[in-house]
Amino acid sequence: MSPTQAVLEAHTNGLYSSRMKDAPAPPALIDPFGRVVRYLRVSVTDRCDLRCVYCMSEDMTFLPKEDLLSLEELDRLCSAFVARGVQKLRITGGEPLVRRNVISLFESLSRHLKTGALEELTLTTNGTQLAKYAEALRAAGVQRVNISLDSLDPVRFKAITRWGDHAQVMDGIRAAKAAGLKIKINTVAMRGVNQDEVEDLVAWCGTEGFDLVFIETMPMGDIDGDRTAQYLPLSMVRARLERRWTLSPIADVTGGPARYTRCVETGGRIGFITPMTHNFCEACNRVRLTCTGTLYMCLGQDDAADLRRPLRASKDDGLLSEAIQEAIARKPKGNDFIIDRRHKSPAIHRTMSVTGG
Ligand code: 5AD
Ligand code: SF4
Repeated sequence: MSPTQAVLEAHTNGLYSSRMKDAPAPPALIDPFGRVVRYLRVSVTDRCDLRCVYCMSEDMTFLPKEDLLSLEELDRLCSAFVARGVQKLRITGGEPLVRRNVISLFESLSRHLKTGALEELTLTTNGTQLAKYAEALRAAGVQRVNISLDSLDPVRFKAITRWGDHAQVMDGIRAAKAAGLKIKINTVAMRGVNQDEVEDLVAWCGTEGFDLVFIETMPMGDIDGDRTAQYLPLSMVRARLERRWTLSPIADVTGGPARYTRCVETGGRIGFITPMTHNFCEACNRVRLTCTGTLYMCLGQDDAADLRRPLRASKDDGLLSEAIQEAIARKPKGNDFIIDRRHKSPAIHRTMSVTGG
């Protein structure tokens, strides 16, 4: 086989790396503030089978299917980032597991785990499809999942998600645990909605061996309700937890936005993500890609770069890699979310289901 044939063959097998053997590795992605981008979050669909009140309105209009990147294109994009030093990929949505055939994306991306270029391949899910896919995800090299769960009470769960079936999600969580996936539960704390069960969530996660992360509502997307009414500062969640549990601070090892504590009684980790009251931008090493190939350099800013055009403009990844480099050079210093009574409309008009949290 000629060298060209070998490359072509590797390409069609999905094994092609934009780096030729022995060629120097392209430089890592470093932003203007010296932060090295190691973490890419990829939304593979804006669709979801739930309608959480803080996230979506009930009658959402989604992107036409033809605007989505194909799974092969998503693979190529992710791989271009891996070639530029990204070590962690998180697949998100909408709900990533409602995208048809999405498991094949996990399976193809897992080749970067095998080479060691990628340290972690993971996902954020609402859990509805986990009973079906947990085993396949584990087999593709996924070791951890973040599962959203805002209530342990079926009636409340329904009220929050509008369309959700609590039992189905609990089945999904059980399946993930049985498949050997490590689980982190994400809970959005809402005033007057699930405020009174935060202590129980700590107990449940402690028993199950799950990490638990509380999130403040962020002003993203046009929803039906009033956000000021929902907003619950996590300082209040913490104060409430400390009436029943002993929380001892632990060093932040994730580099992410959560501040972690350990619950002394259960031994479980509890994180707090407070975008509204705390700036977590200094150590930000992540960027976000939408399912149409738009790269957002910051969750809390509107500036974005179109990567679909360079992706489709040529078969090799030269243009794409340049476009990625150029985008990272524009990564802003931080977000400026504001929620108060004068700013009732969201600071950011796209929902989390577009950029994937
Ligand atoms: N504010 C806070 N959290 C949100 N999520 C979705 N939209 C919002 C919002 N506006 C949460 C989901 C999930 C995580 C990825 O983000 O519930 O747990
Ligand atoms: Fe779907 Fe997640 Fe949004 Fe809920 S928060 S509607 S599960 S994308």
